[in-house]
Amino acid sequence: MPRQIAAPRGTHDLLPEDARSWERLEGLARDLANRYAFERIDTPIFERVELFARGLGEATDAVEKEMFRVSGPAASDEQAAEWALRPEPTAGIVRAYVEHGMHVQPGPLRLWMLGPMFRYDRPQAGRYRQFTQWDVEVLGDPGPMVDAELIELAHRFYAEAGVQNVVAHLNSIGDATCRPGYRQALVDYFSANEVRLTDDSRRRLATNPMRVLDDRLLDPDLAAGAPRALDHLCDACRAHFAAVRGLLDALGLRYELDHRLVRGLDYYTRTTVEFFVAGREGQQQALGGGGRYDGLAELLGGRPTPGIGFGIGIDRTALAAREQGVADPEPTPLVVVVSADPDAFEPRLRVAGSLREAGLRVRVDGSSRKLGKQLESAAKVGARWAVIVGEELERGMVVLRDLTAGEQRALPLDEVAAAID
Ligand code: HAM
Repeated sequence: MPRQIAAPRGTHDLLPEDARSWERLEGLARDLANRYAFERIDTPIFERVELFARGLGEATDAVEKEMFRVSGPAASDEQAAEWALRPEPTAGIVRAYVEHGMHVQPGPLRLWMLGPMFRYDRPQAGRYRQFTQWDVEVLGDPGPMVDAELIELAHRFYAEAGVQNVVAHLNSIGDATCRPGYRQALVDYFSANEVRLTDDSRRRLATNPMRVLDDRLLDPDLAAGAPRALDHLCDACRAHFAAVRGLLDALGLRYELDHRLVRGLDYYTRTTVEFFVAGREGQQQALGGGGRYDGLAELLGGRPTPGIGFGIGIDRTALAAREQGVADPEPTPLVVVVSADPDAFEPRLRVAGSLREAGLRVRVDGSSRKLGKQLESAAKVGARWAVIVGEELERGMVVLRDLTAGEQRALPLDEVAAAID
């Protein structure tokens, strides 16, 4: 027998038994996007490597270590170097915004996307090589109100998803005015303590010193004494952050300041945020995250446009919901259409069609077995009801059988939907 083929490491099949909880989360995402007046955008799953290198930053894990390269059939090295599967959606959305001149539309623009992202990371619980994000972005709004509005939106998503005890970790990492001073303060501090850094951090110190704070192996005492971004904000960034906090406080939204929250991508400015179930703040456990990126559009060749957004990990939210025992929604009752005449295929299909038209969830028995056998397998596939098609169909009648109670009665076909609760 040929050998079986396994799914690639770090991916997971969404099997029917898990699909209902996913559909619930995806449905909630779509519904909330509508309630918050966001419009859908879809960008390609692969983009030019240059977009990510420039947008997210060369010295980020996503670009440096985790890029899935894509090549055409010729598979020349040149092509493989050209495209990559998207590690995240923001760069592609801002590219589309710039490419299509969307700045001329009455703004601010509010966009959402739902789809798979790819990072060639070491797979572990909650960290996959292919995962799904619900992403929202607002372009053209300098805040601070929208910063609070988006944090409120994320909190509402988790609350309506049934995930309890979610806390936002919050920081502000400044802008082009104050960031250079903060970076220098970090370089000075960590250079003086270089022997206590991991190899990774020593490398980052030269390329991307803020990411040293992101190193989960960083000595906790060293981390605690590190310069804080909030102490280095310029007046404008400080005022912005104070206003965001003021709004969150007034709305009673739960957050904690997190001085190490610098985020893994270079495009961020000012507000940064990540969402956790309180007490589960390990590196792989963020249920979502995002922040402001006021310089990104310009970096991608557009005009200066403030931006802010977040991505919610659907995989991790589904895991958290399951851990917290959130029940999946019940499917609508299943009906199976069977017939007394084992070969009455056409009438079965016709009846199934009209029940489906009435909105019912319907399977048709496709076998030529006796009625008793058809009813048995209807019960096995979980049907609550069977509709038995017989000669009375000529008069527009069928028999509706309650498979749980074992009772049945004849009624007009067009009354079946109303008879099923
Ligand atoms: P991110 O923090 O890299 O941000 O990802 C957002 C969320 O996606 C994470 O909090 C997590 O729930 C989920 N996620 C990330 N990587 C994985 C993985 N390997 N396996 C499973 N889930 C994962 C961004 O991607 C930004 N684009 C968010 C944003 C939007 N910032 C501004 N706008």
